[in-house]
Amino acid sequence: MSVLHLGPELELPVDDVVGQCVAVLGIRGSGKSNTAGVILEELLSIRFPLTVVDIDGEYFGLREKYELLVAGGEGGDVALERATAGEIARLSLKESLPVILDVSGLLTDEREALLLDYLTSLWTVAGTLRAPYMIAIEECHEFIPQGTRTPLKEVVARIALRGRKRGLGAIIVSQRSAKVEKDVLTQAGLLFLHRVVHEADMRVYEELIPWRRVETKEAVASLGVGECILISQSTPRKVRIRERHTFHGGYTPTFVPVQSAKVLQVRERLVQSLGKESYDPPSGQEEFPWEEEFDQPPVMAPLSRGEDPGNDEDLPGPVMKKLERIVRRVERSSVLHRRMLGFLVSREPRAYSARDLAAWLDCAEAAILAEPPTPLVELGLLFQERTSRGMFYRATLRTYVEEAFAPFAQELGSSGLHQILSHLRRELGGRLAPERNVAYTP
Ligand SMILES: Nc1ncnc2c1ncn2[C@@H]1O[C@H](COP(=O)(O)OP(=O)(O)OP(=O)(O)O)[C@@H](O)[C@H]1O
Ligand SMILES: [Mg+2]
Repeated sequence: MSVLHLGPELELPVDDVVGQCVAVLGIRGSGKSNTAGVILEELLSIRFPLTVVDIDGEYFGLREKYELLVAGGEGGDVALERATAGEIARLSLKESLPVILDVSGLLTDEREALLLDYLTSLWTVAGTLRAPYMIAIEECHEFIPQGTRTPLKEVVARIALRGRKRGLGAIIVSQRSAKVEKDVLTQAGLLFLHRVVHEADMRVYEELIPWRRVETKEAVASLGVGECILISQSTPRKVRIRERHTFHGGYTPTFVPVQSAKVLQVRERLVQSLGKESYDPPSGQEEFPWEEEFDQPPVMAPLSRGEDPGNDEDLPGPVMKKLERIVRRVERSSVLHRRMLGFLVSREPRAYSARDLAAWLDCAEAAILAEPPTPLVELGLLFQERTSRGMFYRATLRTYVEEAFAPFAQELGSSGLHQILSHLRRELGGRLAPERNVAYTP
């Protein structure tokens, strides 16, 4: 079973969190958002689908490491409007795609109406799917206030209290413990109680923590930033939460967001299903920004695309023989490797992660991870690079041709080398790269 690493000495089984109501409480600056962020990082690292309702635009940094669709806000993948909210929720659940719902730019009324639509849609779809899913909400005293009743409160409380049967769980965060609906807090399965100082908040803690009053007061008063009383399985203990690995804050051009093919596909489907024009990513944010990270191979100037490749028959016999040998070697590779090579050759010099390749080739990421294209890397046809976001691959056919056919370079000239390159592109990217049906036996 997966374990969530929440602190230097704090690991929780994922089942303690999933389908639960998780409450994160404490005064301003006590470390609540960090704690919620750490739980989200851990869930995202096991590819757990979720929605973060981002009130202050402070969760965008999760994209530094994880695949998420950002709806709304500066730097978002799709615009966030009331008309689209329900559909985004539906796609997030169905496609298991984590979503940041950036409502930071909305007025209170707009925000309430939109969240009501979004969460109602989640609740309905979860009723038939019953797949595990979490929803994180900051400032939850505004959505589930003690005492008053609103349609939004009704749906948030329903998810928090009765979501489990549908696979739904909630992470609710608030700095006003006494203002959050008590029924929700007392039934929370997991509580992270950071420091509080106000009497009213302390009284709530005294109800939640099964210690003597003086003990509770002393323990809570001694909590530093990032420390809390954790109540798990009804047992309280003092713990320290680790710091978030990802950037804590809104959109910033200082890092390159993870934006995989899956996000792009869902975005397209959203755009199509809503009958709208494609939503352009904000300027400065390219769709495949990471290719900039790689040093381009030294390219021999004349080897560019688009030149007339000439006729293969013009190539000298020994060159044709060498070409055939290369093709035969590739023919002996697995279908999956040939498909990867074909795709990467057609996109040279762009680099793709295993996850992106899986999305483009319509196969399981596990298939690629289980069978990395090492033989093709060793042959020199692909280049692999380990980055903080995992292994990336790109084709290196140009450099390969330049090096492998260097002995013939003088005889062939640049047009001859170009012919070789075109020949290999045709073979590797076409005939040898079957479209689908990758048989994968783990
Ligand atoms: N576990 C931790 N370890 C180290 N630093 C932490 C930890 N938790 C929080 N901090 C630091 O303390 C500061 C406040 O944390 P955070 O923003 O999480 O507080 P908060 O309770 O959400 O505050 P607010 O109510 O204002 O939203 C941040 O600068 C954060 O980096
Ligand atoms: Mg906060």
